[in-house]
Amino acid sequence: MQSRFTHRFDLSTPIALAPMAQVSGGALAAACARAGALGLLGGVYGELPWLQTQHALALRLLTDDTPALKRVGCGFISWKLAEDASALDWLLDQAHTPAALMLSFGDPRPYTARLAKRGVPLICQIQRLEQLPWCLEAGAAVIVAQGAEAGGHGMSGVQARASISLVPEMADALATQSPSTLLLAAGGIADGRGLAAALMLGADGVLMGTRLWASAESLAASGAVSAALLANGDDTARSSVFDVLRRKSWPAEFDFRALRNRLHREWDSRINELRAAPDSARADYDAGVAAQDFERAHVTVGEAVGLLRDAPSAVELIERITKQAEALMR
Ligand SMILES: Cc1cc2nc3c(=O)[nH]c(=O)nc-3n(C[C@H](O)[C@H](O)[C@H](O)COP(=O)(O)O)c2cc1C
Repeated sequence: MQSRFTHRFDLSTPIALAPMAQVSGGALAAACARAGALGLLGGVYGELPWLQTQHALALRLLTDDTPALKRVGCGFISWKLAEDASALDWLLDQAHTPAALMLSFGDPRPYTARLAKRGVPLICQIQRLEQLPWCLEAGAAVIVAQGAEAGGHGMSGVQARASISLVPEMADALATQSPSTLLLAAGGIADGRGLAAALMLGADGVLMGTRLWASAESLAASGAVSAALLANGDDTARSSVFDVLRRKSWPAEFDFRALRNRLHREWDSRINELRAAPDSARADYDAGVAAQDFERAHVTVGEAVGLLRDAPSAVELIERITKQAEALMR
């Protein structure tokens, strides 16, 4: 399966692992890179010790595989970097050159000079056409068009777009404004049908979160994965409930897709009440996390949860998805 994306990053399949917070650790990024995909570590909120540990693990797991080592990169959240960019600075000071750095949710422009100095390609994840000029100004090598089906954070409410029209519209915009910039589709892609469809819509590849979240190398809690395997796409929803419960101050334009569990159902229609007096709900949530009770703790998955039947190794998943897409495209 070759595309402009595989050629640009020396991959054998046009798949990138999403840099999922606390999930895309060294083992998962290394497994994806070994399978021929782009392995992005979840640097995310910029927790330096976590990144140092997981980065070292990925490098150690790939000491015998130089091509795979070159497929390991990282992702950060732009609005969080504005508060503290020490993890990004640390990463760019390491001997290993990241394959790429992905920035999501905010203005990427303040960080591009540092990336360019180190020769690291920039990947920008966006949700609307109107965000494209920032990314092109920042010199993005790759745009990720993230639809509202996606697991985790994305554009909220009236601003959210569905992938089926966002991806081709973004492809058309890039064709006229910046033809050398590549495009990945994200949101709802969990099998070869999704990969083939994304390529047909004009993407050069896909960024996958939910599917690889349920894999042997993922750092997702096993109880959360068991709950997800019993769910279908109807069981997820976007809201800010878990951001309030987790004490995360996300900008208002973004919210968060996860399984609708007891706490979510209790608060999603009363979000202002929750914001005004969060203490007892937070205590309930914290107790749920401590007890690994996923009727209270969050399970971060997208609508593609309905396509998950198992949690095998990432190598097996990537092979399976690539083969299915190849067969369909033939
Ligand atoms: C568990 C989980 C955590 C995520 N964390 C992040 C994150 O920290 N930073 C980020 O840019 N995107 C994050 N995302 C969103 C992904 O980048 C991507 O857009 C999404 O997973 C694609 O949709 P899918 O889940 O249907 O594959 C997360 C997604 C999931 C499922």
